Amino acid sequence: MRLSPALLGFAGVSALALMSASMVSRPRVPLPALALAARRTPSPACSLTSAQERTAVDAFDKLLPVIHHPRCANCHGGVNPFVDPQVGRHFGGNMVDSATGGPPPSSVCQDCHSELPGWDVPGSAMFFVGRSPRELCMQFKQFAPSGPAEFITHVTHEAGPQFIATAFLGTRALNTLGEVTYEAAMGHPLTADPPPGGHAQLIADGTTWANAIGAGWNESPECGCAVSGAWHGTVTARGSFVGAGMPGELHVSSHATVMLESVPTPRFASGRRVRTYQATGGQVSWGVIAVGPCRGTLNGGFPLDSLDIDGNPLLELRLEDAGGGATRYQPTTGSWPDRWSPIFTVQCAMSGTQVALPTTNLLPTWWHYDILNPPESADPDHLKGSYVWAQGPGSTVRWEWDLKRVR
Ligand code: HEC
Ligand code: HEC
Repeated sequence: MRLSPALLGFAGVSALALMSASMVSRPRVPLPALALAARRTPSPACSLTSAQERTAVDAFDKLLPVIHHPRCANCHGGVNPFVDPQVGRHFGGNMVDSATGGPPPSSVCQDCHSELPGWDVPGSAMFFVGRSPRELCMQFKQFAPSGPAEFITHVTHEAGPQFIATAFLGTRALNTLGEVTYEAAMGHPLTADPPPGGHAQLIADGTTWANAIGAGWNESPECGCAVSGAWHGTVTARGSFVGAGMPGELHVSSHATVMLESVPTPRFASGRRVRTYQATGGQVSWGVIAVGPCRGTLNGGFPLDSLDIDGNPLLELRLEDAGGGATRYQPTTGSWPDRWSPIFTVQCAMSGTQVALPTTNLLPTWWHYDILNPPESADPDHLKGSYVWAQGPGSTVRWEWDLKRVR
């Protein structure tokens, strides 16, 4: 940052100098609220980028025709053999233990399902029915806690009864009594109806999916199960400085288009579902005009997809789960590089003569670098708000932003 001696010579410079000193050149510091929260709850975040999450989510979608097929879904919540068949859709009858009135031992199932010893249904925590792909992805990770290899082993060869291999036979492991029961209930003989693709295809697709999540498997539960997305939108700033640093008024404005992409979240900020996004595109256009005894105008612009002099992105956005579906967020801007801060020379009428005064760059940051009381949004896909910085009478800057999640 440049400091102009000429400008500093003016009385009343302090506000403007402070403004430029505090806003234009500043070290990047972790946001206090987020940093403290992180120290209280150390747990892993998600190290996958949006692109890696997109690959994983697409790979999971390929599993859905099998997961949703009745041969898998009926055991995983689609059929309840322990209630009235009209409700539970188990046409082998209502399976109750006459002694207890509750579910019978699974040996009873062998009367009809003896083609697979151990035929049984899982508890509701393992149901597929009524769950979104995102929830199912998180569930599959949860029930294979040691990592992708555990899931791959499960779909390849289960530790207990081979439910999956049996599902691909399409016959519900029914024996002769089962087939007779089936025909009596359905009015037609049993035909094999396996899930699409075959068992080998499920192993291949399941392996691709699990390895696409990879390191994200044991990070946050939804890591790799949803795309954290990108944000597009605008940020505008309007500032006025009256009698602050030079005679007359200075008016500044900027308009930015912003594109942000998800990046790995630093470990220190993890555990409260913090996601970090960095500018990967966009452009800031700014203009400044001096009116009154000093006059001058200057315009300029710079791209947002580059790094500042310290190697930091020109914009970083942190999103944190604020509870109740709300999102708390904080933009952090990079320091203002000199090459985008040209000297702004104003012409001042002083004691009857015209004097050229080179000023330092007095443009405000295009977006305030650290908003007190970070804003919250009830809509997790839309961040819209404003912030006013006021330094004494006549010196204010107002920012407005409107960002939408694009994927
Ligand atoms: C006869 C009922 C039955 C069928 C058919 C069946 N499963 Fe399961 N499945 C179970 C039971 C019981 C468990 C829990 C015990 C275990 O893991 O063996 C389970 C566990 C699972 C799990 C681990 C739990 C979870 O929610 O992540 C996955 C994954 C799974 N099954 C996938 C499938 C797929 C895919 C199919 C179809 C190709 C299928 N199952 C067919 C009964 C079945
Ligand atoms: C009297 C024979 C009979 C008994 C005993 C029986 N079932 Fe069945 N079961 C059937 C028939 C027939 C079907 C196929 C028709 C249907 O889907 O309801 C079936 C289907 C199922 C299905 C759906 C499987 C699929 O791939 O669509 C599940 C799950 C199931 N049974 C669970 C059980 C459990 C658990 C028990 C023991 C508690 C049991 N059954 C006992 C006859 C029986």
